[in-house]
Amino acid sequence: MNIGIVVYSQTGNTYEVAQKVKEALSKKGNSVNIERIHISDEKERDIKKLEAQFKDDFLNNTPDLSKYEALVFGSPVHAFSLSPAMTAFISQIPSLQNKKISCFVTKGLPLSGTGGNQAISKMKQLSESKGGNFCGSGIVVWNKDREKQIKKLTEEMCKAFF
Ligand SMILES: Cc1cc2nc3c(=O)[nH]c(=O)nc-3n(C[C@H](O)[C@H](O)[C@H](O)COP(=O)(O)O)c2cc1C
Repeated sequence: MNIGIVVYSQTGNTYEVAQKVKEALSKKGNSVNIERIHISDEKERDIKKLEAQFKDDFLNNTPDLSKYEALVFGSPVHAFSLSPAMTAFISQIPSLQNKKISCFVTKGLPLSGTGGNQAISKMKQLSESKGGNFCGSGIVVWNKDREKQIKKLTEEMCKAFF
């Protein structure tokens, strides 16, 4: 399967996990690409402005997802929810019809109720609103048994696309 991992990562944690997900999915015989997305101002939280940035930048920076049969979205948790950059990115995608979608987040705070589930719910809701077939998710808390959590996540991502 041709899989795109679309990742937003401010300080590198989520990108590091994306590389491990790529490795695991590739070992299962998939063709996997990481598409890292960027925003010009990390402090910008206005979703409409960020959406406009991705749309304007389509020819240079914003990845074309039409070639992928399946997508993995990866993002950090910001302010107890999905990062504004990933919220805006998924929001401006015209359609995810006929694509399998899974997602993951990384986060700093170990306690529940600090944004992991909220961020995953938002990714699921946004993906389904574009017609995507949501089939798996995972959360990595950065400072708590990280390797164990990443292993569990990569297994979940492999299961999602079978
Ligand atoms: C602006 C900002 C807000 C954050 N808010 C949360 C939060 O609400 N809950 C949480 O668990 N971690 C929070 N974090 C921590 C990040 O989610 C965590 O460090 C993540 O792994 C960073 O991923 P990255 O290196 O890919 O950017 C926040 C970090 C930043 C910079």
